[in-house]
Amino acid sequence: MSERVIPLIDQRLVSQAAAIPPHPIPATGLLGDALGRPLRDLRISVTDRCNFRCSYCMPKDIFDKDYPYLPHSALLSFEEITRVARQFVAHGVQKIRLTGGEPLLRKNLDILIGQLAALRTVQGAPLDITLTTNGSLLARKASALKAAGLQRVTVSLDGLDDAVFRGMNDVDFPVTDVLQGIEAAQAAGLGPIKVNMVVKRGTNDHEIVPMARHFRGSGIVLRFIEFMDVGATNGWRMDEVLPSAEVVRRVHEAFPLVPLQASAPGETAERWAYADGAGEIGVISSVTQAFCRDCNRARLSTEGQLYLCLFATQGHDLRHLIRGGASDEELASAIAAIWQRRDDRYSELRASLPPEAAGGRRRVEMSYIGG
Ligand code: GTP
Ligand code: 5AD
Ligand code: SF4
Ligand code: SF4
Repeated sequence: MSERVIPLIDQRLVSQAAAIPPHPIPATGLLGDALGRPLRDLRISVTDRCNFRCSYCMPKDIFDKDYPYLPHSALLSFEEITRVARQFVAHGVQKIRLTGGEPLLRKNLDILIGQLAALRTVQGAPLDITLTTNGSLLARKASALKAAGLQRVTVSLDGLDDAVFRGMNDVDFPVTDVLQGIEAAQAAGLGPIKVNMVVKRGTNDHEIVPMARHFRGSGIVLRFIEFMDVGATNGWRMDEVLPSAEVVRRVHEAFPLVPLQASAPGETAERWAYADGAGEIGVISSVTQAFCRDCNRARLSTEGQLYLCLFATQGHDLRHLIRGGASDEELASAIAAIWQRRDDRYSELRASLPPEAAGGRRRVEMSYIGG
């Protein structure tokens, strides 16, 4: 515990102003980064606040009542978010994920969803619009979200045992409320629903098989995520990571599995099907098997900073362009210039980084840029 380091500077202030390039970069939907990776997936954080305090994401001792959350005036408005999203879509984005913090804490989120649902890809197709939530408000909001144009949801759930779950969320939130939220999402047609479980060895790894048993045959895709060294405050240690190979071994022992092909390039999860036809699971192995090679994900923070990697130490400030009178063409060109220079591949490099860099004291928090 004693080695936990509290960042001395507010990470959110470390950013670079996005510049308008001297020559416009036309949006053709075919934008590649420095490693040839296209831009396909935009994750938009709509709030940096959350009503949970998962120790791997927003540990209570750091995210306490004195934590400097963003003031309302700093947040992009729904109109601003939609305008930026439109430029990303013109560059080839096909999927938008709303995240947080907890996105359902942002007021009137259904209005934003309605605006984003009206966008069309370069090919003229609707976007895949989804949302990551802790499920606490889902029972109340599922049908309104669906009506607004949301297609599907991913719910975070780290165990079925009530005591384990209350411990993981660290605010004593009961598991039954999240399970009701998942049911409401199913009833509203927000599928295919995914459930994400972050596995911490010694904390909730005994919940792996019960979770598999519970969601088998439900049409819900359960995914197990390796505990990552994201951010600078979660006290990450390699010995708390349970490698995905071990997760697959344990599930396979209880319910035989067969490997499945990836359904899309650049996907985070490796997929496995139950041999008896009861559906599929996924494992997300950012630590033991990096998937940077095809990473097509951009992240937009609540206040309009563009991040090129989950492990980035610096964002690119788009808000000053949005609020400074830049035209759509200038905004699109600025985004393109940033993406074209992108060479981030942190998870692949992790093992070869010096301990100081791998320790990541200056990295941005996941609650701020979204999962
Ligand atoms: P689907 O479109 O439903 O397949 O979602 P997804 O897997 O692309 O996104 P989701 O947000 O559900 O990702 C699941 C988890 O994978 C996140 O919560 C993160 O823990 C991790 N993750 C997602 N994207 C990245 C990434 O770009 N890099 C790393 N290292 N981890 C990621
Ligand atoms: N390691 C792995 N996943 C994490 N998430 C947040 N912090 C971490 C971490 N340290 C992901 C979880 C959660 C989502 C909101 O973010 O998947 O469900
Ligand atoms: Fe909140 Fe999700 Fe982070 Fe947990 S993982 S603290 S629910 S944003
Ligand atoms: Fe993409 Fe960075 Fe994650 Fe690698 S570590 S997959 S580059 S976000």
